[in-house]
Amino acid sequence: MDVGFIGLGVMGRPMALRLAGSGRKVTVWSRTAAKRAPLRAAGAHVAAGPDEVFREAPVVLLMLADGDAVDAVLGRGTPDFAARVAGRTVVPMGTTSPAYSQGLEADVRAAGGRYVEAPVSGSRVPAEAGRLVAMVAGEEEAVTQVRPLLEPMCHETFVCGRVPDALLMKLAVNLFLITTVTGLAESFHFAERHGLDTRRFLDVLDAGPMASGVSRMKAPKLLARDFDVQAAVRDVLMNNRLIADAARASGVASPLLDVCHALFADTVALGHGAADMAAVLHALEARTEGVATDRPAHGG
Ligand SMILES: NC(=O)c1ccc[n+]([C@@H]2O[C@H](COP(=O)([O-])OP(=O)(O)OC[C@H]3O[C@@H](n4cnc5c(N)ncnc54)[C@H](OP(=O)(O)O)[C@@H]3O)[C@@H](O)[C@H]2O)c1
Repeated sequence: MDVGFIGLGVMGRPMALRLAGSGRKVTVWSRTAAKRAPLRAAGAHVAAGPDEVFREAPVVLLMLADGDAVDAVLGRGTPDFAARVAGRTVVPMGTTSPAYSQGLEADVRAAGGRYVEAPVSGSRVPAEAGRLVAMVAGEEEAVTQVRPLLEPMCHETFVCGRVPDALLMKLAVNLFLITTVTGLAESFHFAERHGLDTRRFLDVLDAGPMASGVSRMKAPKLLARDFDVQAAVRDVLMNNRLIADAARASGVASPLLDVCHALFADTVALGHGAADMAAVLHALEARTEGVATDRPAHGG
C-alpha cells in the first residue's frame, strides 16, 4: 500500500528514510524545503504540499512537533480539512495531549476519514535503526491497516485500545524516561563535583544493574558534554507539561516528574532549549553554583 509521510524533523527524517527503503511508494512533504532533499535522494516522491500527499496515499503518517503543526498541515478549521482527510487514514505519530487526539479523531471521523494515533518511544538513534516502539489506538480495522506500515520503523507495536490510550501509554513511558535521564545527569554531576574519575563512574554504572539503553546512550554524552540533539530539551519540556497536566487532571501525584519539570524549564531559561535532553546537566550545575534563572515560578 502507498503511504504518505509529513514532517521530516529529527524523528521524521530517519523514519521516512526507513519507510522509503522498505520498497513502498512513499510520498513525503515537510514545511522546510531543505528537509525534503534527503528523501528525494532516497527515492521518495516529494509532494508540492500536504494536498498532494493526501491525494497520493490512502494512509498518511504525521511526525509533527505538536497539535498546532498537525492542525496547520491538515488545514483543520478550513474547507481543506475535509478535502484532505475524507476517505483517508490519518496517523499522528508525534506526541500531543490525549484530549487533543480525542478531539482530532472526532473531527477526522466526522469528515469521513479514519484515525489511528501511533506515538512512538525511542529517539533519533533508535529511529535510524528501525528500533522504535509504537503504541497504537483506534478502530480495529484502521489499526489493522496501519500496523504493517509501521514495521520498517518500529521493532514492536503494541495495540492499546481506543484513542487516547496509546498517548496515555506514551506519557507513562515518558515519565520514566524523563526521570531516568534527569537522575542520570544528577548522578554524573555528583560524581564529577566530588572529583571522581567520571570515565570510571561510567564503567561502574555500565557493569551494574542500572545500565540500560538509555544510560548507554546518555552517559557518554554527559562525559563528553556532547549535547548534539537526539531529543530536544524544548520537546522534553513539552512532554513534561503534557504528563503533568494529565496527572493533575486525574488527581495523580507525580512528585519526581514535577521536579524534572522545573529543571527542564531552567534548562530552557539558561538557553539550551535546542540541545539534547542530556543538557539538563546545565540546570543542575546552575543550582550547585547558585545561578538564578528567569524560569516562571510555576515551572514553565
Ligand atoms: N525526538 C525524540 O526523541 C522524540 C521521540 C518520540 C516522540 N517525539 C515526538 O515526535 C514529534 C516530532 O519530534 P521531532 O524530534 O522530530 O521534532 P522536530 O525535529 O522539531 O520536527 C518537528 C516537525 O514538525 C514540523 N512543523 C512544526 N511546526 C509546523 C507547522 N506549523 N506546520 C507544518 N509543519 C510544522 C517541522 O517541519 P519543518 O522542520 O520541515 O519546518 C518538523 O518536520 C514531537 O511531537 C515529539 O514530542 C520525539
